[in-house]
Amino acid sequence: MKIAVVLGTRPEIIKMAPIIDEIIKRGIDLTLIHTGQHYDKEMSDNFFKDLEIPAPDYNIHVGSGSHGKQTGLMMEGIEEVLVDEKPDIVLVQGDTNAVLAGALVASKLHIAVGHVEAGLRSFDMTMPEEINRRACDVTSTMYFIPTEESAINLLAEGFSRKNLIITGNTVVDACFRHLEIARKRGFEDESLAELDIDNMKNILTLTMHRAENVDDKERVTSIIEALKELDQMNIIFPIHPRTKKTLESFGLFDELNNLNHVHIIKPIGYLDFLQLTSKSSLILTDSGGLQEEAITINVPALTLRYNTERPETVTAGGNILVGSDKKAILENAEKILNDKEFADRMRNAENPYGQGDSAQKTVDAIQDYYDNGLLDIKA
Ligand code: UD1
Ligand code: UDP
Repeated sequence: MKIAVVLGTRPEIIKMAPIIDEIIKRGIDLTLIHTGQHYDKEMSDNFFKDLEIPAPDYNIHVGSGSHGKQTGLMMEGIEEVLVDEKPDIVLVQGDTNAVLAGALVASKLHIAVGHVEAGLRSFDMTMPEEINRRACDVTSTMYFIPTEESAINLLAEGFSRKNLIITGNTVVDACFRHLEIARKRGFEDESLAELDIDNMKNILTLTMHRAENVDDKERVTSIIEALKELDQMNIIFPIHPRTKKTLESFGLFDELNNLNHVHIIKPIGYLDFLQLTSKSSLILTDSGGLQEEAITINVPALTLRYNTERPETVTAGGNILVGSDKKAILENAEKILNDKEFADRMRNAENPYGQGDSAQKTVDAIQDYYDNGLLDIKA
């Protein structure tokens, strides 16, 4: 059996790493295709190193661009590779443009598509990610679904129950596998070492990169107004390149960077990031993966969005949606800091994303489908 894995951005590398490990461990043939959507060392190469996965067999080097350009170039590049490599199944993960490109190309070549993290829905069609994940689900053969809630989304859309496989989320595998390794190694990033994170109190880890926040001056200004008043916290902000660019263009970067309690640093490697978040009192984010990681490592999360495709984290009690609303950000952050009972309830929220055996379940299911001829979608 040959499995092709398509990935292109930071979260895909992190969440595919446990599956790549599992494929290699079982001696299954692997073709690893990087679309090149993320290309800075801090957004790509460093994760291959930290997660100890092999360098891609192919890099399509699409770089940055409009959605149409990026997706089109990816499709052309992926098609060439798949025609040559003839894998039995193509795995894509999540909701990025690589997911759309990989799923469209593979399905038209009559190659089975396995969607890792299938079935998530924000029900917000203004998000490119919602379009990508829905289109991918339409073309997929196997659905690796993190939770029952996501399975229900697919059943409600009429997908057949028989190809829905509840696996948990591979983010838990990655977290469990690397947190101890990270703690033993200590911080590698110089800015973090200089900040003496180990002895720092009241850490708030901040990440944001969603277009609907960082490309919108009004929303990002409202978030920054809240950050200014959160001066009882040490805010560590590994800034996504998209966010750096937009803050600079709005003239807001220096204003934020000049605040004594805000430390803007470059994006950091996975082992450093896991240590930072696990030492934090609070995570403030609009990241998808970070909402899942927060509940996995028992750190309260406030999500800078008005909806989420990860509602399980909210119903479990580990995550609160605060949007870009200054009052909601401040009230909830201050409550987490000052109300121990409230913070403990958030910390103790049950993790809905499984036990860290998601990659194993995913590759078990693929092997089973292969052995029973179910990956042959022309049959
Ligand atoms: C992409 C994904 C998003 C995911 C995020 C993870 C899509 C539609 N979006 O968003 O779902 O949550 O990755 O981080 O697939 N840039 C650099 N260096 C890089 C990469 C990007 O400077 O290595 C800058 C470029 O100016 C680029 C901008 O960041 O235009 C945005 O990058 P892009 O990959 O288009 O989208 P993300 O916001 O990263
Ligand atoms: N992450 C990291 N270093 C950073 C910021 C984030 O390693 O400086 C990791 C984080 O642990 C999570 C993933 O990147 O697993 C989330 O990626 P991102 O927020 O870019 O994308 P999303 O999950 O929103 O698609």
